[in-house]
Amino acid sequence: MTLHRITLRAGADLHTFRQSVRRLIAEELAPQHVVFVIDDAPGLFGEESIGDAPPVTIPKGVARLIEHVVCHSDPERYALLYQLVWRVLNGERDLLDVATDPLVHRIDLMARSVRRDLHKMHAFVRFRRMPGEDLERFAAWFEPEHFILEAAAPFFVDRFRSMDWTILTPIGSARWDRRALTFGPPGQRDDAPSGDSFEEGWRGYYESVFNPARVNPTAMRAEMPKKYWRNMPETAAIPGLIQTASRRVERMIEQEATMPAKRTPERALEAMWDQEPKTLEDLNAIIAKAGPLVPGATQAVFGEGPAHAELVFVGEQPGDQEDLQGRPFVGPAGKLLTKAMKEAGIDREHAYLTNAVKHFKFEQRGHRRIHSKPTAGEVKHYRPWLMKELELVKPKLVVALGATALLALTGKATPITRSRGRARFGPYEGYVTVHPSYLLRLPDEATRREAYEAFLNDLRRIHDLAKADLETGELPLAAE
Ligand code: URA
Repeated sequence: MTLHRITLRAGADLHTFRQSVRRLIAEELAPQHVVFVIDDAPGLFGEESIGDAPPVTIPKGVARLIEHVVCHSDPERYALLYQLVWRVLNGERDLLDVATDPLVHRIDLMARSVRRDLHKMHAFVRFRRMPGEDLERFAAWFEPEHFILEAAAPFFVDRFRSMDWTILTPIGSARWDRRALTFGPPGQRDDAPSGDSFEEGWRGYYESVFNPARVNPTAMRAEMPKKYWRNMPETAAIPGLIQTASRRVERMIEQEATMPAKRTPERALEAMWDQEPKTLEDLNAIIAKAGPLVPGATQAVFGEGPAHAELVFVGEQPGDQEDLQGRPFVGPAGKLLTKAMKEAGIDREHAYLTNAVKHFKFEQRGHRRIHSKPTAGEVKHYRPWLMKELELVKPKLVVALGATALLALTGKATPITRSRGRARFGPYEGYVTVHPSYLLRLPDEATRREAYEAFLNDLRRIHDLAKADLETGELPLAAE
């Protein structure tokens, strides 16, 4: 039996693998006739010409799995993936649904391991300023388990777009010079500085958000394995914090009754701002500079309205139109909201409208950009900004439009049906109602009309509440 030898470069060589699969499938070469060899010699990066072959159409799920699994460190990854492709194209199109199949099971575990590694890298890379350089440059050392550097790097470009940084790993390095992302040779731990002036800030922040009452060293180690600790300044505080946890809990209980204001994570986060925003303009400049968490958005969409409006409406995230125009609630849902506000006697010009998430997240389908719901992690990322925004506006009443706004305002995922009506969001009087886009999605006219009436009733109550004396509870409304 002749064996066909496919040579791939070390690391995650998705390009050569894809090309090879096209050719192997075109030549009808079954997996037992193919051997995949990884060439560790430097300088051979993708130079081998594999020749053109027609594209192979595979289910999206398989294509996505391949993108992850080629990053795995197991040398058998390409052979396993080719077996998968071969079987999918030869009568087992729904193979991925057979979770008990040994090949599917093994590949699934590999994909999970790669995703976990990506998650750890996104969470645990810590940049430090390079000493003795005129221009501000940052470097970080990280040891991934798999070949994930190229897959992980775009996340850091989005997060730290305005910084000049390098991530060094034993498998290669990634450099962003504020314009282009390039990949280079491996680095060594000593190539990255081991400390800088930001360290104190990180440690201080970590100590302030650390909750001794919830300390669980086993869970903590599972989430943040010890091998990452040495690259993370805040972890220097962990042993001491664990040791003193029970004493700190006792002290917290003693202090609870007398504490004037809780030290919330939002307050602790203030310590992270280079320059604490004193105005909405300052805050918006920070948001704009940080850029979108998920790539794609045209611009950040800030809150809009009088800087000290009595009434703040919080939506989910900008939609397609908002993203293009740079203003909140100007698309179809916004138009419906404006109409309903007007009918309920609320002047949009007198209210402040904003969103939990400040950038549009979408899925591109042809020419259309389809709204994609923000994850809880994304909402959490934007939350300190929303809280600061409220602190600056100081409204009398905050309205949560839909579940994402409610999550952002309370930190808890709660169904709207259960919390609709008056609420309290930390120091703010609140009101919970549906998001106007919910009304647009309802399937038939009658349900839509009924839901719109209920929404109008909420807005009328909101209008009255904004006029009422909330301190004394004298409301021009019936009791809840
Ligand atoms: N939906 C929102 O939540 N916000 C907008 O700005 C537009 C639509």
